[in-house]
Amino acid sequence: MGSLNNKRVLLGVTGGIAAYKSAELIRCLQGEGAEVRVVMTPAATEFITPLTLQALSGNPVSLKLLDTAAEAAMGHIELARWADLILVAPASADFIARLCHGEGNDLLSTVCLASHSMIAVAPAMNKHMWENAATQQNLQLLREHAIHIFGPASGYQACGDRGEGRMEAPASLCTMASNLFVSGLLSGKKIVITAGPTREALDPVRYISNHSSGKMGYALAQAAVAAGATTVLVSGPVQLEPPERVKTITVESAAEMLNATLNEVGGADIFIAAAAVADYRPASIAEQKIKKNDDDMFLQLIKNPDIVATVAALPKRPLTVGFAAETENLEHHATLKLHKKNLDLVIANDVSDAEIGFNSDDNRVLLVQPSSSKALPTMNKHLLANKLIEHIASLLDTPPKIPLS
Ligand code: C5P
Repeated sequence: MGSLNNKRVLLGVTGGIAAYKSAELIRCLQGEGAEVRVVMTPAATEFITPLTLQALSGNPVSLKLLDTAAEAAMGHIELARWADLILVAPASADFIARLCHGEGNDLLSTVCLASHSMIAVAPAMNKHMWENAATQQNLQLLREHAIHIFGPASGYQACGDRGEGRMEAPASLCTMASNLFVSGLLSGKKIVITAGPTREALDPVRYISNHSSGKMGYALAQAAVAAGATTVLVSGPVQLEPPERVKTITVESAAEMLNATLNEVGGADIFIAAAAVADYRPASIAEQKIKKNDDDMFLQLIKNPDIVATVAALPKRPLTVGFAAETENLEHHATLKLHKKNLDLVIANDVSDAEIGFNSDDNRVLLVQPSSSKALPTMNKHLLANKLIEHIASLLDTPPKIPLS
């Protein structure tokens, strides 16, 4: 897995002799872990065939703006949304001029106009075209629009000239693309996260559960993917959409959550237990719906397995992080939990505060570790998830804990 792991790169190919290098560029990007889709301008197809780029990218190549079949498959707006990065390589002088003036007269320029993703261009042209004042002004405008300019390189040109204007080599373009993603923090790492409540069945129609929304765990999964991790989310029943690019396994009971977690956690670098697992389950599940015959009804409950403690006790354990929802003495209870379950980090929050915690969009937590603790201010769960992933990534450098015997 490389530094573009989980990233989606839309490669725009415009008409220039350097278009033949796009084939190698696709391979480089894929080698770094990126998924690649290709959009070609009509002129690009004179230099390299769509079929070649389609075979290499493993995805249909998009060519025309006004093509009903293509728009039905993945239209220009969807392509614009799909991409984490639009990399135009080679970018001709003509394309650069059209891009900087916001023209939308072909598919590629329209996708660029419609996109909120990062855009980078790799200019490729004759040295006199490169030096031309109009080209330089256009490039300046692109920089002002926060569009990245990769290269160009200098050297021998197809027209016989020597000088600046050659497209950067595919391997360098790939490195430049990787560097755009600020957080490759968890690149090459695997993370497993539990989220949401569990449901413990009483009979075919009833269950015991809690109010966990799953928002924190889902936000952590999104943050982990953004940091480049291969991410697995083991989720109890929630009202949230499965996050993109996350392997989401849905479960109901604590026993199912434990099984799914143990199946995934081997080889993982990090395990975060964000689920609100039911501590007890009915001792037996009635086969038929329980009838309301008596005035009193007694339930016998038995203890559920502790998922995070089970993972922390594995001989080859990942960095193991738990949550602690407390109503009093936050730091004290979180520290007890840290030691009892042999965790590397406990993220503690005060659930007696209605503004944070269960079902809320905000959270305020205390990070409790064996030798230190740190309070974070109240923030949105998504922002907090990014901060937590940053913090957890920094703990990977410390030697792993030894499981308690
Ligand atoms: O003991 P308590 O439930 O307060 O611990 C909370 C932490 O333990 C959370 O990280 C939760 O996901 C995890 N946990 C678990 N399995 C359980 C109970 C809690 O993984 N059965």
